[in-house]
Amino acid sequence: MSLVSFARKRYTTKAYDATRQVDQTTIDELLELLRLAPSSVNSQPWHFVVASTAEGKARLAKGTQGVFAANQGKVLDASHVILICTLSELSDEHLATVLDQEGADGRFRDEAARTTQQNVRGGYVNLHREAGDTQHWMEQQAYLALGTLLLGAASLGLDATPMEGIDRNTLDRELGLADRGLRSLVMVSLGYRSDSDFNAALPKSRLPAERVFTHL
Ligand SMILES: Cc1cc2nc3c(=O)[nH]c(=O)nc-3n(C[C@H](O)[C@H](O)[C@H](O)COP(=O)(O)O)c2cc1C
Repeated sequence: MSLVSFARKRYTTKAYDATRQVDQTTIDELLELLRLAPSSVNSQPWHFVVASTAEGKARLAKGTQGVFAANQGKVLDASHVILICTLSELSDEHLATVLDQEGADGRFRDEAARTTQQNVRGGYVNLHREAGDTQHWMEQQAYLALGTLLLGAASLGLDATPMEGIDRNTLDRELGLADRGLRSLVMVSLGYRSDSDFNAALPKSRLPAERVFTHL
């Protein structure tokens, strides 16, 4: 199946079959896709909390109370739920960890190449620090991971629900994220649709190509 066929076929699942679990091999492949997601200057300013047990999903469902209650069943009945987090700060320590990893992965021919990479990345990071929009920049990177996850899930035959309708403060407290230098951002349920999902039968709707593309 072509990639665009998966994009046409995937949809936001509103109700899950709570009896069906995604097998571990498929989950592992999906997590590897997440790990491989691109980010500006390879900053990888993210962390992913993965819930596969009833207890874990119940903890994440605490972020779907009150005004977000419409998302609760999607969390509790899904097979797996992934909470995408950003770092709460793009620290020098994190940047050093990324640089060391690139070195360990064989990215640098010599010390000069390592220094160049450090300086280029540092330059971009400083631009955002000076503009005061580092958090926003990290969120932009994390949304790339979200897009990768959604298309990847479809390609693996999984149904999924991206959810911004979550109480991030509650989730931060529940998971002790601030103490770990993290901030919750957006959540994704994964699994298999229920027969009762009204959204499965609705046609996909997008603005037409002439509206969204300018060809030069
Ligand atoms: C970042 C993001 C946040 C979303 N938040 C929610 C949500 O909280 N609950 C929900 O049911 N759908 C949510 N959606 C689903 C969108 O409404 C849906 O993607 C859009 O209507 C397009 O439909 P499709 O995904 O079925 O193609 C979200 C989608 C995105 C990309």
